[in-house]
Amino acid sequence: MDRTLILVKPDAFARGLTGEIIARFERKGLRIIALRHMTLARDLAETHYAEHSERPFFGELVDFITSGPLVAMVLEGPEAVRAARQVIGATNPLEAAPGSIRGDLAIEMGANMVHGSDSPESAACAPRTSRRSSGARPSS
Ligand code: CMP
Repeated sequence: MDRTLILVKPDAFARGLTGEIIARFERKGLRIIALRHMTLARDLAETHYAEHSERPFFGELVDFITSGPLVAMVLEGPEAVRAARQVIGATNPLEAAPGSIRGDLAIEMGANMVHGSDSPESAACAPRTSRRSSGARPSS
């Protein structure tokens, strides 16, 4: 069994699509191991997206992911990282296949609804990250 970290991003949460998104992962066969409603603090967001720190869109990315409440989840299942990424679809929603979350529900690259771990190694950091109380503030 593998695990993957999923963030239902602030755009999806604000649009009231969290339930639909969770249902899609559950229908695929992934099981929720942990789930938390939170607003990411800037330092945790910068750590989470550290691999993109040199990209021109890094500031925008951190601004967006810290802009409002999100739902962070750890999902478990066979090949969980690959399975979740198939459910999510390509990074650019206009290139994501119909039937995927991004293909069905999003248009813009920034506001692309969901983040999924890109490897089992990055997913392995998820439980530590989601428990790091200094990095998250409770959502109202
Ligand atoms: P995500 O799966 O959260 O991982 C990194 C994020 O960076 C990605 O989804 C997009 O939201 C964002 N991203 C990737 N490429 C670009 C880009 N060219 N312009 C703006 N945002 C991007």
